[in-house]
Amino acid sequence: MLTIKKVTVCGGGNATHVVVPLLKNEGLSVTLYTPFAEEAAKFKAGIARGGIIDHDRQLQGSPDLITTEPEEAAQADLILLVLPAFAHELTLEALASHLPPEVIVGAIPARSGFELPALKYVRKESSKRIIFCCQTLPWACRIVEYGREVKVLGTKESIGLATIQPESAAEISKLLSKYLKVNFVPMVNSLAVSLGNVGQVIHPGIMYGLLKDYDGAIWSEDEIPLFYQGVTEEIAELMIGLSEEIVQTAKLLSQEHNVDLKEVLTVRQWLMRSYAATIEDDSTLARAFRTNRSYRGLKIPVKEFANGFVPDFKSRYLTEDIPFGLLYSKAVAKMVGFPTPHMNEVITNAGEWIGKRYLNKDGNITGPDIAEARIPQNYDIIDPKHLVKASLGINL
Ligand code: NAI
Repeated sequence: MLTIKKVTVCGGGNATHVVVPLLKNEGLSVTLYTPFAEEAAKFKAGIARGGIIDHDRQLQGSPDLITTEPEEAAQADLILLVLPAFAHELTLEALASHLPPEVIVGAIPARSGFELPALKYVRKESSKRIIFCCQTLPWACRIVEYGREVKVLGTKESIGLATIQPESAAEISKLLSKYLKVNFVPMVNSLAVSLGNVGQVIHPGIMYGLLKDYDGAIWSEDEIPLFYQGVTEEIAELMIGLSEEIVQTAKLLSQEHNVDLKEVLTVRQWLMRSYAATIEDDSTLARAFRTNRSYRGLKIPVKEFANGFVPDFKSRYLTEDIPFGLLYSKAVAKMVGFPTPHMNEVITNAGEWIGKRYLNKDGNITGPDIAEARIPQNYDIIDPKHLVKASLGINL
């Protein structure tokens, strides 16, 4: 039975503002870690006025310690990374040499391949450390006032959670469900979280589909195109293509290497499982997206430009979901020899929008920017057997 007294929350963004009052409500000692002195000072100034307020849950709470020092941050029983994926490895690397021999470290959300830097930095010196990865962030949330107030716009019904080693998933899910008041559901292994990360299909798929013929128009606020409600039959076909490449890769991996990947769903299965109650017409995938009431009114990510708005090509829908999502699956498909024409098209063209060349001209993962992607090959894992064993915490 795990005993948790002290929790470190890494990050000072929207999600941290939700997590801290919840943890304090459980009577836990909470440290907030950010490497940025300015952010730490701003957080301290905010909480000096009474602690973060979450009106919806009628909670209020402050971290006991706010630190920029990894030595202090690492002294905890549980370390939660509530950060964009690009900050995971930097954070794990900073904390690694100070971690206690027994500690639980995990990411909410993990995106794809969180287990790779976690194995490299967290498990290196002690196999007693538990690593967990969560499928998504439970909340849609925004800071109202920094260090002072947060607004939760929506909460997901359940969140998949996998651990290394897999036998800890049930216990960690139970623990986090209690602390964070969300239903965490154990998943069979971290590979299923990485390949089953549906954001890698939906976000780059819709962004690419909606913007591939963008003509440089500057939109007024009312003209900004809808995101999910803008899904055409053509965009849905693209998502189905991306999704099939991932699901078939998972099937091959599972058949040839005896690993359970049934939890890697198609985009349609995922959508119906998550939103059946709010979808008005599921006769095609495009209609299911367009008529999902939960997606109503959400627009393309934009930035201000010349008194109007233009697409934000640097949005996390591309900068996070390609190098920490689609490229992971592409790299695994390469290992098992499954062709990926849809992934190649999106990674190559949308990659150009974010100024990155991840693939070479033949579609291989040897482009000049591939070192920035969280793919197994960048962690010296080059064959499927090794990948499966690593995801189960078995050292080769
Ligand atoms: P945020 O943008 O509010 O917070 C980002 C935080 O990351 C910053 O406060 C900073 O402390 C930290 N950070 C940035 N660069 C860093 C670095 N190099 N090293 C260490 N720390 C660094 O993010 P938010 O909204 O809290 O989201 C966290 C994750 O959850 C992201 O992956 C986001 O895409 C995802 N997510 C967020 C949702 C939301 O409604 N806020 C909804 C669904 C997913």
